[in-house]
This record gives sequence, structure tokens and C-alpha cells, in this order.
Amino acid sequence: MTPPDDLLDELATLAHRAAADAVRLIHDERPASFGVDNKSSSTDLVTEMDRASERTIRSVIGAVRPDDVVIGEEDGEVVPEGGGSGVRWWVDPIDGTTNYVYDHPGYNVSIAAEVEGEVVVGVVADPTHGRTYSAVVGRGAVCDDRPLRLGPAAELSQCLVATGFGYDPGRRGRQGQVVAELLPQVRDIRRMGAAALDLCSVASGRVDAYYEVGLSMWDLAAGALIATEAGARAGTIDGGPLHPRAVLVAHPDRFDELSRLLVGLGASDV
Ligand code: IPD
Repeated sequence: MTPPDDLLDELATLAHRAAADAVRLIHDERPASFGVDNKSSSTDLVTEMDRASERTIRSVIGAVRPDDVVIGEEDGEVVPEGGGSGVRWWVDPIDGTTNYVYDHPGYNVSIAAEVEGEVVVGVVADPTHGRTYSAVVGRGAVCDDRPLRLGPAAELSQCLVATGFGYDPGRRGRQGQVVAELLPQVRDIRRMGAAALDLCSVASGRVDAYYEVGLSMWDLAAGALIATEAGARAGTIDGGPLHPRAVLVAHPDRFDELSRLLVGLGASDV
């Protein structure tokens, strides 16, 4: 059941405010240098700005809605005393941390709100391009004030396909083999380095499809709502219900064909 309008409005306003405060911190006031550490592998980076951004977002949300559960990439799940209000937030304080470290465009702040298990609000703020994407369930998606709506589907051979790679070296090698086989069958491949923006790129028609294995919900939640509210179909690579372990998002008229191709290349099994 869709939550009441006043709750959706409150969550959307709060998500926009938290994202704007985080963007001010990480982009407008970006320090000349900041600490950088490794996480799951030597290529998986976290910076002190990721942690500071998450603290900012948690404090904006917590000041207004102290009873909500917040799950963030850096500090994990924080459940308030009493178990929560039924609202759960997914926070990626900097999606595309490698882009951020290199000052490469495309990193973003991604914030989603879930009510009783359904993602109902998503905000993806892209400061290097000066754009904020957002969606509220049932109300469509926008980039700033511009409505996003998919046009006609491209033929498979003409599809520009975005993807991303995990941080485990073995998996990266296998993902590269899949890309090598996919490349001659589509228009081209893009690896932009930030999953939430890849999803917004599907919503905006800047790519025709996006797939990736091994995401986390904080990478996926906001961008997937934006893409589906713009008219895309989102699911697992083999066509099941959306799950971060193996994501495919594409025009509904091209989803099944891409799914068959990717399954045939073993894209889900990397
Ligand atoms: C990563 C980016 C990247 C994707 C990785 C993600 P992070 O997020 O979205 O594009 O390929 O799978 O983990 O680690 O920079 O927040």
C-alpha cells in the first residue's frame, strides 16, 4: 500500500535536505587533502569525507525523524530504541568514492527511504554536473525540475550499456571477460564509476541499459526507483525481482533480450 502523501512529502523533503548538506560538505567545501583508507581490497577506498558525509546525513535525518532506522555504507545499520518507526533509510554518503578521490566527475550522494520494506523516495545528487535526480513512488522521476521519461527502445545492437566492476580481483577479471564478449554485440560499453548515477543515466536516456553484479542496497535503492519511475524495468540479470546481487535495468521492451544475452555470457555467475 502506498504511504500517505504527507509522509511521502516529508521523506522527500528530508532526503533532499540531507543530500544538499552532504554535497556542500564533500563538493562545495572539498578540502585540499583528506584521509584515504582501504576497505575490502586495496582498490576499495573509503575517505574521511565518506564518513563525514554519512554523519551529516544521519544528523539531518535523526533531528527530524529520530525513530527511523538508517543503514549507511560506512556505519552500517543503526536501529533506534524501540525498534523503529517502519521507515528505513539507505544512505551512500559518496557513491563513486574512486571518482571522488581522483576528483573525477560522477560521484554522488544517494539517499533512499523505504516504508514497510518498499522504497518510496530516492534522491541522487550529482554535484560535479550540478544535477539532482529524484523520484517518489507513483509520482514519476525528475532531474531537478525536468520530468524523466524513457523514449522508444533502441535495437540491441544499438544499445549503449553501462556496467561496473566489483573490488575482488578475481571477480573483476571474470567481469572483464563478460564485457569482452558483450562489446561486439552492442553499440558500446560505459564504465562511469558510480552505480547510482548509472541508474539515473538509464532514467535520462544517457545509456540504454545498466547491469552489475555484487552491488549493495545503498548503491541501488534511490537510483533504481528513479529509473523505474522514469519507465525502466529493473530486476535481476536473469529477470527475477530486483536484488543487489545481480542488477539489470533497461527499457521494458529490451530487458528480456538483454537478460538472455547476459545470462548466456555468464554475467550473473561472476
Ligand atoms: C561503487 C560504485 C561503482 C560500482 C561498485 C560500487 P562506492 O560504490 O558505485 O560504480 O561499480 O560496485 O561499490 O564503493 O564508490 O560507494
